[in-house]
Amino acid sequence: MSKETLTITDNRTGKIYEVPIKDGTIKAMDLRQITTGEDDFGLMSYDPAFTNTASCKSSITFIDGDKGILRYRGYPIEQLAEKSTYLETAYLVLNGELPTKAQLDSWTHTITNHTMIPENIKKSIDGFRYDAHPMGMLLSVAGALSTFYPDAKNINDSKVRRQEIDRLIAKMPTLAAFCYRHTMGLPFAYPNNDLSYTGNFLNMLFKMTESKYKPNPVLERALDVLFILHADHEQNCSTNAMRSVGSSQVDPYSAIAGAISALYGPLHGGANEAVLIMLSEIGSKENIPDFIAKVKGGSGRLMGFGHRVYKNYDPRARIIKETADQVFEVTGRNPLLDIALELERIALEDEYFIKRKLYPNVDFYSGLIYQAMGFPVGMFPVLFAIPRTIGWLAQWEEMMQDSEQKIARPRQIYLGYDTRDYVAMEARS
Ligand code: COA
Repeated sequence: MSKETLTITDNRTGKIYEVPIKDGTIKAMDLRQITTGEDDFGLMSYDPAFTNTASCKSSITFIDGDKGILRYRGYPIEQLAEKSTYLETAYLVLNGELPTKAQLDSWTHTITNHTMIPENIKKSIDGFRYDAHPMGMLLSVAGALSTFYPDAKNINDSKVRRQEIDRLIAKMPTLAAFCYRHTMGLPFAYPNNDLSYTGNFLNMLFKMTESKYKPNPVLERALDVLFILHADHEQNCSTNAMRSVGSSQVDPYSAIAGAISALYGPLHGGANEAVLIMLSEIGSKENIPDFIAKVKGGSGRLMGFGHRVYKNYDPRARIIKETADQVFEVTGRNPLLDIALELERIALEDEYFIKRKLYPNVDFYSGLIYQAMGFPVGMFPVLFAIPRTIGWLAQWEEMMQDSEQKIARPRQIYLGYDTRDYVAMEARS
């Protein structure tokens, strides 16, 4: 009969150890007993970038990268994108179950009631330079909200946590839209609580002199679908930042500022901008073979292709591609789309990409949609941060209820000097 254990032989000492395997994992702390003697600290595992280390147990998001599967709380992303709304999906991600009609109405009412932001936050947005990056502004003002809600530091009170989660989900689109209006030199447009979550966001972004802004239903739905696709993605860089910063027991606004900072990086939230730059540089379909040859020769990458986890077609990319067609019927076709489609066709038939399991990821088509909808590229990572806020908060809430979690504090392998004496300035060479 098979045993759920791992037997380790330490060839330095000849000792044999048996450690339990649970959920396909051994506990790193079980390695600590493996020592060469009393002075030995014990064996550690070395895993820069956490490529093979689970930092938590989670019941929120499931990804099978080889099969191209993404599920929130067990529900396939394809079904949610087709049948759900962003707010319903956000409820599911946070609470674990789809809401009843009454629960959804109540959740929608709560979120709608918290959309206003403090006027002093509005003033601080005004204080940024005219050309400030909206993501830099967003992370600052999201963090600054902690100074308006000092009770938020009572993170061990579950009621307080829920209140701050409601506030953050509701206020994020308002913060984002106000940052956008500032960069455009436009007056702020206040929330209209009669509209849907994404309809109101479009209102705060694009309302001009009309007394009531009417969002285009196709664009409103397209944005809702994009928001569903970005709601959570298990332990990605920004979620790990949220958990890590939050593990110090700081308030959620400060932890969210850390998560937004992580998302700001070009390897995380900035890849769709890189795709647009790449497509513009390629310029026309005839130049694609030359471009592919350069990538294969090691000069540059095919942006929007490849993923640390997905070794198959990113299921989000497939849905986004369909959404793009609907958006372009309203906005007119983005001329870069033809280059993208041909690039994808050629790459998917090419041995280099097949061998390395490189497929389009979520960023390959999303930038084309956002550009066609009129968003400047600086807003692309902001459009990621708004829906990902529920993922960050659900993961934070899960961490807060997990008795195995403590302040995150990795070990290191120290390779520096052994102790040495201070050298006076005149004796230094
Ligand atoms: N274009 C060309 N080659 C690529 C590639 C791409 N987009 N992505 C990976 N590769 C190649 C690497 O050169 C490497 O080849 P080698 O084995 O001959 O050295 C191999 O595929 C494995 O790549 P690696 O960098 O180890 O994969 P990773 O898991 O560390 O990287 C990404 C994942 C996402 C960072 C990477 O695929 C990438 O840079 N993609 C483009 C940026 C992007 O779209 N990011 C958004 C992610 S949602």
